[in-house]
Amino acid sequence: MESVDFHTARALLEWQMELGADECISDTPVDRYALPDRLAKPKKPDAKPHLTKGPVKQTERDPVAEAQAAASGAASLEELHEAIAAFELCDLKRGARNMVFSDGIAGAPVMIVGEAPGREEDRAGKPFVGAAGQLLDKMFAAIDMGRTNSDAPVYITNTLPWRPPHNRDPKPEEIAMMKPFLLRHIELAKPKALVVMGNWACQALLAKRGITRLRGNWTQVMDIPALPMCHPAYLLRNPEAKKDAWADLLSLKAALAK
Ligand code: URA
Repeated sequence: MESVDFHTARALLEWQMELGADECISDTPVDRYALPDRLAKPKKPDAKPHLTKGPVKQTERDPVAEAQAAASGAASLEELHEAIAAFELCDLKRGARNMVFSDGIAGAPVMIVGEAPGREEDRAGKPFVGAAGQLLDKMFAAIDMGRTNSDAPVYITNTLPWRPPHNRDPKPEEIAMMKPFLLRHIELAKPKALVVMGNWACQALLAKRGITRLRGNWTQVMDIPALPMCHPAYLLRNPEAKKDAWADLLSLKAALAK
């Protein structure tokens, strides 16, 4: 085998860890594609002959319908947490280390909806703990609010509870199948106001994108006042947009005081 230098070997290992291969199972790799098809099920001896003519219809599962049923069956935030953890139809789950449900104080007047966990959030199992999260905390501290501030708390969740591989953009079908859980999350948390952070949260909750146009314009989500704002990751890349974010925070504070 060709030898690789230390840095390349380390980068390769890190890449495998990123993909979720973080456990050594044996000394030699197994090419599972080269194995005989051991999983093909043997025919049941008493199987009845197939009598219908023409193509056999597959009974396909409908992830959105299943998500709706699971979400509406959750009567509390704890039950919703369990329902999402038990939902097997979103492939993101398989690549994630942890599910990220929420942080902050449930029942807080402000609920912030972000995009999806990144690497730090995936490790910690908590939303907004990386660089964008630190900026988010500073932004809310500037209007005397915060996830650990029991006098003026916020509650935080994401559009998707699992990290997309390599932080890629969420796919429309992932947003669609997780949306029933997000809507139920909002219903159960009962915030006075929602902050819809960034394009993907706007896509899920408002069916619109174009955050630089949408930001600052109050709208409604399930009869709850909702304020689209630029995502803190965007603000880190575009510091000139921070003045607009400050205006939005003041607008939020004024709305809560009414
Ligand atoms: N960005 C998000 O939208 N959510 C997180 O939890 C972290 C970064």
